[in-house]
Amino acid sequence: MHRPFDKDRDRADLVRIWSETGWKKGQPDFDRGLDAYLKACDTIVEEHNGSMEVGASRTAGTLQFQTQQLPVVIIAGVYASVVCRQGGHASTLTAMQVAAGVADGAAVASLGIFDQGFYDRLGFSCCPYVRRMTIEPASLKVARLDRLPVRLSVDDAVEMHACRLGRRHVHGMINLADAGLTELECCECPGHGLGFRDAKGVLTHAMWISVDENAEDGPWTVRWMAWSTRAQLHELLGVIRSFADQVSGVRIADPPGVQLQDLVDRPFAWLRRTRGGQNEGKPTSIAYQQHRMCDVPTCMAALSLPGKPLSFNLRLHDPIEGFLPTDAPWRGCGGDWTVTLGEQCIATQGHDANAPMLEASINAFTRLWMGARSATALALTDDLRGPGDLLAALTSRWLLPEPAADWDY
Ligand SMILES: CC(C)(COP(=O)(O)OP(=O)(O)OC[C@H]1O[C@@H](n2cnc3c(N)ncnc32)[C@H](O)[C@@H]1OP(=O)(O)O)[C@@H](O)C(=O)NCCC(=O)NCCS
Repeated sequence: MHRPFDKDRDRADLVRIWSETGWKKGQPDFDRGLDAYLKACDTIVEEHNGSMEVGASRTAGTLQFQTQQLPVVIIAGVYASVVCRQGGHASTLTAMQVAAGVADGAAVASLGIFDQGFYDRLGFSCCPYVRRMTIEPASLKVARLDRLPVRLSVDDAVEMHACRLGRRHVHGMINLADAGLTELECCECPGHGLGFRDAKGVLTHAMWISVDENAEDGPWTVRWMAWSTRAQLHELLGVIRSFADQVSGVRIADPPGVQLQDLVDRPFAWLRRTRGGQNEGKPTSIAYQQHRMCDVPTCMAALSLPGKPLSFNLRLHDPIEGFLPTDAPWRGCGGDWTVTLGEQCIATQGHDANAPMLEASINAFTRLWMGARSATALALTDDLRGPGDLLAALTSRWLLPEPAADWDY
């Protein structure tokens, strides 16, 4: 039986489930983080023998798509107790939360994955890789700080959240609406918030660094960075550089569109020196966030591509419909569409007898829409098919900056 989460009745069960999933690891501020999460999210549960055994939580956000912002439903957590696995409840609750988000106006759904495949069954597909490396603070080619940063803690979560929302806007960027989710992150990953305020006292750029179990000598990890200008990016990196005497390595993701190696002195020597050690510099690249379109006309209307109009028929199939009741008001995006690309792209229901046909899963089409992969590349590895000249035309026209969520959830 599924029903809304009831804090008085279900909180202890949820803590038990999160202990079983390994998400409760003795963080000193665990309870505070959990309360912030529960306030920021709508949660539904599966009850079994009188207790909550499975849950799925959603929260609201926005996706920066080229120059527009689209409403997004973020699936902020999916969790099943050890006595209630593989009964289909986690998948069903997730599908229900996507549908509830759509009912609230979301055009897109997004989540972070524990592995690839599970959410593909609900129409989600991978964003591009996120690249991380451990750098030696002393090797950063940025100026020494000429002012000191301010210390920020979980008590400054609202201010840090506002700073994150105002960071440099890039295609694909996700913003989470509720500051409780920044509070949760501070509690989940104890460490230091560091940033800078302007003359009026407004926090203009900041970052959160977790120290994990390695407070004394690192590696430390940059969980997020919020900045808008070159000077602000360099100043935050200057803070990291100032740790050089204590900490050997800091793990950091490439900021969106930035190749951090540009700012690292002798990166290959560092790789050789750290091989096999706890500060191993070796970069990793992995895609761990997934999106899915939920409203094809709204998503296509946000897309603007220069050039003459190009029309094609689209036959979409959407696996989420198998997880939703047959009489549900929204059962995904499957069906026949006609798409016209141009300065203002349009998708309408039905087919045009004269246009070429593209067939795709909603998963693959979402990746094409976002600019995560080209039509030609998707035809090689994903569920997308069409005549060669249509794929070539789409590949040469559908050119967007690589999307970057720049927010982990
Ligand atoms: C992830 C989790 C919620 C799934 O719970 P569950 O009860 O097994 O989920 P469901 O019963 O709805 O789905 C199970 C199905 O998904 C499939 N599945 C699981 N992982 C998969 C993957 N990576 N690729 C493809 N299919 C996958 C299973 O094989 C199973 O298929 P079946 O129904 O054909 O047997 C549970 O394992 C859990 O709580 N894990 C720890 C917390 C966690 O990582 N949560 C997810 C955060 S993103």
